[in-house]
Amino acid sequence: MKTPLRLRPLLQRAALRPFFVDDEGLHLLDQRALPGDERWVLYPPTAAGLEGIALAIESLAVRGAPAIGGAAAAALSMMAQASSATDVSAFVVEQRHFVARLRRTRPTAVNLFVALDAVSRVLDAAGGGAVDVVAAAVVAAAEAVIDDDVLACAAMGEAGASLLNDGDVVITICHTGALATCGQGTALGVVKSARAAGKDVAVVALETRPLLQGARLTAWECQQVGIPVTLITDGMASFAMARGIGGRRIARALVGADRVASNGDTANKIGTYQLAVACRHHGVPLHVVAPRSTFDRACPDGAHIPIEERAADEVRTAKGTPLSPSTVPVWNPAFDVTPADLITSWVTESGVVVRDDNGVVG
Ligand code: MRU
Repeated sequence: MKTPLRLRPLLQRAALRPFFVDDEGLHLLDQRALPGDERWVLYPPTAAGLEGIALAIESLAVRGAPAIGGAAAAALSMMAQASSATDVSAFVVEQRHFVARLRRTRPTAVNLFVALDAVSRVLDAAGGGAVDVVAAAVVAAAEAVIDDDVLACAAMGEAGASLLNDGDVVITICHTGALATCGQGTALGVVKSARAAGKDVAVVALETRPLLQGARLTAWECQQVGIPVTLITDGMASFAMARGIGGRRIARALVGADRVASNGDTANKIGTYQLAVACRHHGVPLHVVAPRSTFDRACPDGAHIPIEERAADEVRTAKGTPLSPSTVPVWNPAFDVTPADLITSWVTESGVVVRDDNGVVG
């Protein structure tokens, strides 16, 4: 093996990190086991290890758009470091094979493809010379993906916190915290920044059927970092807006994104669209919090966003327990598309943005 990896932001093992890298390989926190179990799984720098990481992404052991991109970048960096290829062309063939495998894991989160494309550009540019030089460039590209996300999370937090007032209650869906990114999170990161600025902001978390990222991960992460949180089922969102919770009305909705088309249509966890419709009815502003890496300039509108459809048993069962007849037909899209006109603004690392006169989110 070559010199050990140096993925600076994620070198330390910590409860609120989706992964870290050390000399043994890539360690993923298995998010499927949370909140009951904090289980770290090691993927060594071998072909089997890379396949394990691909399966971990597919099965949502690591999930959340920026974390998927970061994990893929880290995996490729690890494989580049460990390569035993003796010439650059063999190295490039081998690495392209790994990129192709990761490309087939999950289709909607564009951050994955941003990370894979960053590494692919290094491979495309590789000429002759030493394998170590190209491997070092792959590592640098992977580090940049991860570093950029850490910085973007901090900047989004600061920008988004300006939208929130002391005493606000924020409704959110899925999980958008540190485990879903390489930094403090997107939508949940905004709440963290607002609270760090001294504002008493509380969260209402939708449980997020069928895989319960809201119940399992948002509720857990809020409790870990001391954010007051109330858990409700997805079907309670409208009534919570109509009545308020504990005497406090819901001030805003903050959600993450897996892909934002250039017209602002936004793919995010299934249920976001329904939440946005409820927000419009109740006059609750809805903001999408997402780094630039989630904006797909090549995608004109939501109809062009590939939507992942997952296994029927995710709906028919919960943790292996049957919820329905085992053969009932199921439709299980993992994401939906919220039309841009239901979105008040997008919070990015560049600030709070709205659509321009041409209907483009800049
Ligand atoms: O299927 P998941 O759990 O990967 O879906 C995650 C989401 O929909 C998040 O809201 C999105 O990735 C933004 S996370 C910062």
